[in-house]
Amino acid sequence: MSLLDRIESVKQAALQELRAAQDLPSLERAKGAFLGGEGQFTALMKELGTLAKDVRPLAGKSINAAKQEMEAVVAEKRADLELRAALPKEPTDFTSPGRRRALGRLHPLTQVTDDIIKAFRRLGFAVADGPEIEDEYHCFDALNTPADHPARDAQDTFYVAAGGEPGPRGTKLPLLRTHTSSVQIRAMKSQPPPIRIIVPGRVYRRDNADATHNPTFHQIEGLYVDKGVTVGDLKGTVEAVFKELLGDDVKLRFRPHYFSYTEPSLEIDFTNALVKKLGKDWLEIAGCGMVHPQVFENVGYDPEVWSGWAFGFGIERIAMLRYGITDIRLFYENDVRFLKQF
Ligand code: DAH
Repeated sequence: MSLLDRIESVKQAALQELRAAQDLPSLERAKGAFLGGEGQFTALMKELGTLAKDVRPLAGKSINAAKQEMEAVVAEKRADLELRAALPKEPTDFTSPGRRRALGRLHPLTQVTDDIIKAFRRLGFAVADGPEIEDEYHCFDALNTPADHPARDAQDTFYVAAGGEPGPRGTKLPLLRTHTSSVQIRAMKSQPPPIRIIVPGRVYRRDNADATHNPTFHQIEGLYVDKGVTVGDLKGTVEAVFKELLGDDVKLRFRPHYFSYTEPSLEIDFTNALVKKLGKDWLEIAGCGMVHPQVFENVGYDPEVWSGWAFGFGIERIAMLRYGITDIRLFYENDVRFLKQF
């Protein structure tokens, strides 16, 4: 066989073996067998020198072309095998839960909300939800709020414009809920007692933003209705949850107050080492009370049979106490230097 024929046949053998390699070591082995120092193809290259001058250029050309072809196949095959070696051995189950978030982290308000929900879940509370765009009935009327109560004023409540015109008071135009208490009504209307829910959610008020106010913030509402529910249950529940959230040195104080949807109504004051550090004795932290019989009437629960309590508090305030934050606006600015600390 002429040298040219042998070049062609060794090349074909080499290409076949290179392409058949199943992994990187066998590819390297095949490459060595043909192109290594002692390789079959290298041996042919060594023969070039023994050829007559006139046939040498043609043979040289064809050797170079064959060598390039083989090297190209090696490179292509190597890239392919490297990629395959990097793939997982088992098929990936995309439905299994991730070990950690791929990117970023939860906002501090989300973290605090999750912890509050966890604490109440352990006590048997379910999470309920309701619309942020509400009507006067659920936000005020059904909660026994008098028609002339200042909370209903357009200076305090955002009424949603209808046809470009802001809605006058007293019409059934929508508003942005001023508290999560509206969901008490929706929940009770949608199911018979007993009921045990918490409602985390966003609320809106016509406040100017300062260190402790913002036109929108978050609340958690709680509602517990059953037979023979007492203020003692309310105190015990709230105290257990606050201790879990903010530490065992937490002290609570219940003060008489007025809310139209509870009777008696109470305000909860809170203190711990951090409150003292802020130079205060007590911080007002929540409103609560025993559900007003009129509210039960409004949703069709018999107040002679059922009793219950409700509470509402601001999530931002809890987060501020937990982390020692003194300006509420930091929560909404999305400054990563702030967010990275949680
Ligand atoms: N809705 C009240 C507020 O936004 C908080 C509140 C007070 C909720 C007493 C209640 C309650 O459920 O019983 O300030």
